[in-house]
Amino acid sequence: MKKMLQDLKDSSLSAIGSAASPEALESLRVKYLGKKGELTAILKQMGKLSSEERPVIGQLANEVREHLSKALDEKREQLYAKQLESRLISEKIDVTIPGIPVKVGKKHPLSTVLDEAKEIFVSMGFSIASGPEIEYAEYNFDKLNHSAGHPARDRQDTFYFSDDDRILLRTQTSPVQIRVMENRKPPIRIISPGRVYRKDEVDATHSPMFHQIEGLVVDKGITMGDLKGTLNTIIKQLYGEDTITRFRPHHFPFTEPSCEVDVQCFECKGKGCRVCKGEGFIELLGAGMVHPKVLEVCGIDSKVYSGFAFGMGLERMTMRRFNISDLRLIFENDVRFLDQF
Ligand code: PHE
Repeated sequence: MKKMLQDLKDSSLSAIGSAASPEALESLRVKYLGKKGELTAILKQMGKLSSEERPVIGQLANEVREHLSKALDEKREQLYAKQLESRLISEKIDVTIPGIPVKVGKKHPLSTVLDEAKEIFVSMGFSIASGPEIEYAEYNFDKLNHSAGHPARDRQDTFYFSDDDRILLRTQTSPVQIRVMENRKPPIRIISPGRVYRKDEVDATHSPMFHQIEGLVVDKGITMGDLKGTLNTIIKQLYGEDTITRFRPHHFPFTEPSCEVDVQCFECKGKGCRVCKGEGFIELLGAGMVHPKVLEVCGIDSKVYSGFAFGMGLERMTMRRFNISDLRLIFENDVRFLDQF
């Protein structure tokens, strides 16, 4: 029996030593130390032994059991440690790998320039007004002193909704002037940005939909000097202190006198080049002193109050600001283009 125990010890220790997984180890434990295991089987034969031999073999059997238990415990720990190590390697997260970038949108260049302009006007005491894009011809034309036969009212130029030409897509933001003056008493100082529509063919400088920023100031004693001072200040803030402006006589039905304001060409500094089409100046906006008839239509006494108004094209301002040569790029919304701003 001594020999059996010795053999069991040797063979089980070598089996335990080469166990490859905790599961394999567990079946070895059952095989050797379990109730139906090999050690138990040997011990069952103890009855056959003499009373001298029994305690000796009993002690040896206990030693073998302890030995095996210890070997099993050690091996189990080793196997767990190995398992953990390989899990740590295979499940490792490399925190230094760059993340997957999230595509964040950008402000559209039109919005950038509009926001800049709003900030400048608001800092000068203007507030922001708005009006409908679907407008009455009465507001878009009649109350703005566009007589019945004015060419702007032509069906070729304007999108009408009704056969009687009463409702249209506004061709300018100027009807907001009327809406504001009908509803507020002077002093008035507003800007009104928004979309306008004209039957224009799409090309590098035209679109049937574009944006304007309307401006209106009405108070006692407002003069052409206020108009020039205000517009010069805004243009210099938008395009730089050294910007040179030119005020040129013009005609609008709802302002008298009227003017157009040009800025000296940034490219050639007034000499004349491709960008300014040889003019040396580039047209920026229309403006003028609010026509007394327009004030009166809105119930404002033109003997007490006067005012000035202006309208600028936002696309034109944006193209100038970012050196964009084709208007269509602004509306195509190709991200490769928009990403540049
Ligand atoms: N509404 C005019 C246009 O669209 C611009 C303008 C606005 C002119 C205000 C004078 C005063 O051309």
